[in-house]
Amino acid sequence: MEELSHTPASDGVTVRLTITSPEQMQELGRRLAKLLHAGDLVMLNGELGAGKTTLTRGLGEGLGVRGAVTSPTFVIARVHPSLVEGPPLVHVDAYRLGGGLGEMEDLDLDVSLPDSVVVVEWGEGKVEDLTDDRLHVIIHRAVGDTTDEVRHVTLRGFGRRWETVDLGVLSA
Ligand SMILES: Nc1ncnc2c1ncn2[C@@H]1O[C@H](COP(=O)(O)OP(=O)(O)OP(=O)(O)O)[C@@H](O)[C@H]1O
Ligand SMILES: [Mg+2]
Repeated sequence: MEELSHTPASDGVTVRLTITSPEQMQELGRRLAKLLHAGDLVMLNGELGAGKTTLTRGLGEGLGVRGAVTSPTFVIARVHPSLVEGPPLVHVDAYRLGGGLGEMEDLDLDVSLPDSVVVVEWGEGKVEDLTDDRLHVIIHRAVGDTTDEVRHVTLRGFGRRWETVDLGVLSA
């Protein structure tokens, strides 16, 4: 993965990566998993088919959770328990989560969010209130190109949790 820039920002750091295949996107997820702890919130944004679920699949592999990560089309959230005594992965598709935070808390999941790694697709403007500490991942595909597998990924940490995390290791 080619690292384009690594800019200190007021809230943690921003890292930009160029990803050239679905496999590489999944690998990014596996690497990112190594940086995550219980209570972390990761927000994934990017248009339909950008690769949010593909990244989450790698995250699930890296965390060692049960069950294949797929698009949670008929459910808003799916819990993947850990197979390695780590935190479960809660995978949320906020596309249809109209009401935001309130609904999120009403989901009645079997796990508590502070004990889980929570990954939210389409979470922008909906779940920020869950915590001041969160990692934003924005995936862009090359404009106007429907066949190209190139994706530009921007990761930016917000809050104290991410102030000292070196996201640069993701491009190593
Ligand atoms: N570099 C890439 N990274 C990720 N996916 C890629 C890449 N190149 C091509 N693809 C393809 O793009 C599609 C991405 O689908 P995925 O379900 O991960 O997107 P999504 O962002 O979750 O979409 P949705 O908004 O519908 O949930 C897959 O079919 C994948 O094979
Ligand atoms: Mg998806």
